[in-house]
Amino acid sequence: MEVMLTDNAIEILRARYLARDEAGKVVETPAQLFRRVARAVSMAEACDRPLWEERFFRLMEQGEFLPNSPTLMNAGLPEGQLSACFVLPVGDTMDAIFECLRHTALIHQSGGGTGFNFSSVRPRGDRTGSGPGTASGPLAFMQVFDEATRQVRQGGRRRGANMGILECTHPDVLAFVRSKEDPSQLQNFNLSVGVSDQFMKAVERGNPWALYNPRDGKQWGELPARELWGAIGQQAWKRGDPGLLFLDTINAGNTVPSLGRLQATNPCGELPLYPYESCNLGSVNLRGMVRKDLQGHPGVDWERLGATVRTGLRFLDNVISVNRFLLPQVREVTLANRKVGLGVMGWAELLIELGIPYASEQAVDLARNVMGFIRECSYEASEELARERGPFPNWPGSVFYPKRPLRNATCNSVAPTGSISVIAGTSYSIEPLYALAFKRVGILEGETQWETNQVAYRWLLERGLWTPDLEQHLRDNGGVSGYQGMATGVRELLATAHEIPWEYHLAHQQAFQEHTDNAVSKTVNLPRETPESMVSEVYWRAWELGLKGITVYRDGSREGQVLQHCSRS
Ligand code: CDP
Repeated sequence: MEVMLTDNAIEILRARYLARDEAGKVVETPAQLFRRVARAVSMAEACDRPLWEERFFRLMEQGEFLPNSPTLMNAGLPEGQLSACFVLPVGDTMDAIFECLRHTALIHQSGGGTGFNFSSVRPRGDRTGSGPGTASGPLAFMQVFDEATRQVRQGGRRRGANMGILECTHPDVLAFVRSKEDPSQLQNFNLSVGVSDQFMKAVERGNPWALYNPRDGKQWGELPARELWGAIGQQAWKRGDPGLLFLDTINAGNTVPSLGRLQATNPCGELPLYPYESCNLGSVNLRGMVRKDLQGHPGVDWERLGATVRTGLRFLDNVISVNRFLLPQVREVTLANRKVGLGVMGWAELLIELGIPYASEQAVDLARNVMGFIRECSYEASEELARERGPFPNWPGSVFYPKRPLRNATCNSVAPTGSISVIAGTSYSIEPLYALAFKRVGILEGETQWETNQVAYRWLLERGLWTPDLEQHLRDNGGVSGYQGMATGVRELLATAHEIPWEYHLAHQQAFQEHTDNAVSKTVNLPRETPESMVSEVYWRAWELGLKGITVYRDGSREGQVLQHCSRS
């Protein structure tokens, strides 16, 4: 049987996912890839293994659910490392730092991405234990990590991704905030300042802000909180970095608080994790979850969505069981919490299918309902797995104890789905469409060709609105806005990322976050002409709304991005 895939999907699968022999020749078809993954993941089943293999295969083959890239690439193969997300600890000794670098290279090589909080590293200019020299500071080490990332491609297929975090109390925080002033620096890092509620209040009141040396806990200096806040907004406006991580909000939502504070996330921010903890993700394709009622009105197919989520969650729990862990430390923490992150893709396309504009309260309400439903179904599935297989070992130290035995310390995350949404042939994660027509750059050959978003195209075609003239307009402008005679309703329904007011970007992020136990990866896209002060306003509002983190991308502000949305430009 051959699987229905778009040209884009076939191209990306051939370039990076399909298994190869020793000579580098592709030796499987997409259907065989899904079969390989389904079989490997079903090995965790004690009973009815072939039945589960079939169910997992169907989910992927029909594009209803896909696990994160390393699972697709490595399941059933000798590599066998299946997780996309890791956090590693960075100590304040040469040994610890270079041990961490070695682990990072191994993880990148296997297809995983890494997040680090560098705040334990003593500041630049501090004394060192050995000899008369002074300390290099966290930024110097980040450059070493960046260079190593450049050299170690993930499984030879894509470049690794990192999240670099520095907390707002670290003496080098201002230099960290400005470290991408030169855009050639730290290209393989997303940067986030770890901020506390106390810092946000100091900004609000215009108070001074103290910086502490992590080596001895003594105060190192101080600066006006607003000076740091201003620098963050300015750099984010200029370069798209740094983002913020709201560490107190993250910890308020920690499901296993007995293990201490969470201080870092994976590269795209959707997973706060403990040192050495890893997590695997999977996303349901919402675009496929539409059903017409007897009158022909489209609505969400709740039954199908629920069934997909339940099987998807079981799939992700199985991935933990069949995973090959690269390091004993990773195995220990990962198996003790058994975190998984089931999320979504195709949200913008679902909204178009339902005729609901992204920038509307109706869309935000639906976001809440959809994610609330997904969360409930995931938790029910995890509860059922706990009955069958036992709760996660740290369950007695979790917020669920003793009322709700669960198999997984967390169930949900909203990941960017940068590659798997291309394989599923749908829109990224919960992002609005970036453009209705775009030039596709071939992954291997470098040729370009025009493509139109298929959901928008069909919508326009079915209403008799598609013309060659409109097609040209979409190529020139990216969207329908500015096209003579186009009704306001159509413009609103097909609005693209830069036409969505930032308030609605945040509203969607918040609606999904409300029902996500981990976090939501979202980029607030801003038009090029956005004033600098607005970025600070977006960041401030993100904190007020209780988001766990925030990232903006002002059109044209970033040259080399960590995550290339490689099949679209
Ligand atoms: O679509 P795909 O499964 O490839 O990944 P994603 O949803 O765009 O990203 C999920 C996570 O995979 C990120 O947060 C990173 O932890 C990791 N990742 C990575 O390590 N390297 C990349 N080039 C892309 C993603």
